[in-house]
Amino acid sequence: MAAYYVSTPIYYVNDAPHLGHAYTTVAGDVLTRWHRQRGEDVWYLTGTDEHGQKIMRTAEANGVSPQEWCDKLVSEAWKPLWEHLEIANDDFIRTTEPRHTQRVQEFVQDLYDKGEIYKGSYTGPYCVGCEEYKAPGDLLEGDLCPIHKRPVEWLEEDNYFFKLSEYGTRLLEFYEANPDFVQPASARNEVVQFVRSGLQDLSISRSSFDWGIKVPWDDKHVIYVWIDALLNYATAVGYGADQAKFDRIWPANVHLVGKDILRFHAVIWPAMLMAQGLPLPGRVFANGWLMVGGEKMSKSNLTGISPRQLTEHFGVDAYRYYFLRAIPFGQDGSFSWEDFTARYTSELANDFGNLASRVAAMVGKYFDGVLPAGSDESLAGPLREAVEKADRAIGEDLDFSGGLGHIFDFVRKVNLYLSEQEPWKVARDTSPEGQAKLASILYAAAESLRAIAVLLNPVMPATAEKLWLSLGAEEHLGALPAQKVHEAGRWGVLPEGATITKGEILFPRLEG
Ligand code: MSP
Repeated sequence: MAAYYVSTPIYYVNDAPHLGHAYTTVAGDVLTRWHRQRGEDVWYLTGTDEHGQKIMRTAEANGVSPQEWCDKLVSEAWKPLWEHLEIANDDFIRTTEPRHTQRVQEFVQDLYDKGEIYKGSYTGPYCVGCEEYKAPGDLLEGDLCPIHKRPVEWLEEDNYFFKLSEYGTRLLEFYEANPDFVQPASARNEVVQFVRSGLQDLSISRSSFDWGIKVPWDDKHVIYVWIDALLNYATAVGYGADQAKFDRIWPANVHLVGKDILRFHAVIWPAMLMAQGLPLPGRVFANGWLMVGGEKMSKSNLTGISPRQLTEHFGVDAYRYYFLRAIPFGQDGSFSWEDFTARYTSELANDFGNLASRVAAMVGKYFDGVLPAGSDESLAGPLREAVEKADRAIGEDLDFSGGLGHIFDFVRKVNLYLSEQEPWKVARDTSPEGQAKLASILYAAAESLRAIAVLLNPVMPATAEKLWLSLGAEEHLGALPAQKVHEAGRWGVLPEGATITKGEILFPRLEG
């Protein structure tokens, strides 16, 4: 079976990563960790987009060569942040690597040989911020880019063109036959409308600067940065170099993209693949924007808050949880310090963290930390339901907020169960029946926590691991990442006799 292959956009390295970039990358990480815990062969790819005028100008402004600039940012900013955020990517592609540049030249040469590319001239507006040719009708008054709110540049160049206009009908047929190809539905509608309104041929080279991959048959041109960039999804998994790897991984199941770059992925990219006769991706999912003051968060309007400032205060796991829980995936949303604090305190520290420490404390106090046997299965049904719903939401629908909601509904049910059962009162009854009842209640609570650790591991791996160890589960059930999500809902897995210890507090009180 082909691998479950998920990609993030490859990010421009003109600056350090901000909350918006981390948002998409964390989402992909949670999705792929979830699928790994389904027992699937998974491939998670991220990387950096290093060519084009935007990078070239930033490097010039900083007095270094573009390659030096990229090397520095990748090694000092991008890779370290992904490590810090526990991103478990299988590969990291940089578009300046030979494994990419050579294959891009071959791909473009092939299209040229097939007659898909011709020489023409382009006259029109271009936004360097977007690295995108704009239609005059897209611009705001004063010829401003609608995304960057900055003036576009006027280009007049001889360029090579890809015959994109010939793919309209095939693309529409493809969307029709694959209704889930573009998600969410609002994004799909936008794409279908756009293609229906008629496609123009696409300029795929630039000749006024040289920071890019050379057009193989005409070295006065470099390949347009978006054609170069999109091909990362193929070159990184062995296209034209390692056929066995390519066959195992290709095509992507999910390309995660921000909604600003939807057309590139849902129109140009499939047309390029059609031209080359390659299988098309399963899904392009457009996430919304993190907003600041009603605008897309970007380099020029940062909140002034970096991912690391938030992780210093809330911790990495709470960070990974917060954005996915607070903003329905596919919609825009705003970050607020107050909202983060409120969710940290009520959902993570109170509902979840306190539950874990109370249960461990009671097993310690009443049973010397040895998990007793129990027969109360009243939480088994709600657990099974939570697992099924969370698996569909997170694993299939990319509805992270909904999936986490189902898991935390179950957490609250366990809390409710304890407050109704009142084990601290039952403990006073020293008769064998009383003790058996106490054992049953605590077993049910600990067994529920076992499942919660499995379900939250893709989202909060360090916290889930602490819980797993405090339940003594590793010794009996093996490593946490090896636990399967669809088996998490089976009841009675944590064995009697497991050693329960009161571990570290999962979500300490926030400072300041
Ligand atoms: N280099 C191109 C992508 C090429 S993919 C073949 C690019 N890079 S980017 O760095 O400008 O942005 C990439 C992605 O970062 C966005 O599409 C989105 O996924 C993410 N985000 C950047 N700002 C964001 C927000 N404010 N909110 C959410 N995601 C954001 O475009």
